[in-house]
Amino acid sequence: MQTQAIQVKGLQKSYKQLHVLKGVDFEVEKGSIFALLGSNGAGKTTVVKILSTLLKPDSGTASVNGFDVAASPGDVRQAISLTGQFAAVDEVLTGRENLVMIARLRHLDHPRQVADDLLKRFGLTDAADRKASVYSGGMRRRLDIAMSLVGKPQLIFLDEPTTGLDPEARMETWKIVKELSDGGTTVFLTTQYLDEAEQLADRIAILHEGRIIAGGTLEELKKLFPPAKVEYVEKQPTLEEIFLAIISKKEAI
Ligand SMILES: Nc1ncnc2c1ncn2[C@@H]1O[C@H](COP(=O)(O)OP(=O)(O)O)[C@@H](O)[C@H]1O
Ligand SMILES: [Mg+2]
Repeated sequence: MQTQAIQVKGLQKSYKQLHVLKGVDFEVEKGSIFALLGSNGAGKTTVVKILSTLLKPDSGTASVNGFDVAASPGDVRQAISLTGQFAAVDEVLTGRENLVMIARLRHLDHPRQVADDLLKRFGLTDAADRKASVYSGGMRRRLDIAMSLVGKPQLIFLDEPTTGLDPEARMETWKIVKELSDGGTTVFLTTQYLDEAEQLADRIAILHEGRIIAGGTLEELKKLFPPAKVEYVEKQPTLEEIFLAIISKKEAI
């Protein structure tokens, strides 16, 4: 049985003179969460576009669920779903209508039932009949991810799923990603945030100047760097921890 959901070898891509990917190699194990970490402009979206068959590489090979992206793009598309950096939610429609629309586009039986199940799973049942334009950032992102799960893809691409979200919505999204993975879905996510990769990923690959400069589990990556000098100071909470503590107190009142 094949255990790799994604295999990438020697991937290169240029946009005119701009050599963005200079030989990228990595593998993603089935059912795992893989984070491609890189700063803005590193080429993360380019990798996602190649793997989801939206863009052709100049050289190198990539296979998704055992299918070569160049030779069998149709089979690859069957197996995946893509949630882009910019939400695909139609603001004029309600949450339910958005989901029913996607289910119809994918020619599923019982689109209404599919929508109801996803609304429930993502805690959107109460908001189902409100227009998406009045949803909070976190709710919209939940709906966006729910939409990408219509039709039960085996592999989901999340391109910077939390960029632009407030801390609470980020944590909500993290929870969803973990649940997806617990349910057996392979998750390929890109992020600019170290803490996001740290929170979520089974394996992390760092894309820098066109190549994967480091990859492995968090523990393996930590070993690559010299240990920080130990200082005996009380650990200060992060701003995010403080913010969330305040919010949860408010909700408890
Ligand atoms: N269609 C395009 N034409 C020209 N340059 C592009 C195109 N798409 C992306 N780029 C450039 O390629 C580089 C990598 O982009 P991208 O893959 O979007 O990076 P990331 O997602 O890591 O921020 C950036 O410098 C970007 O400006
Ligand atoms: Mg990007």
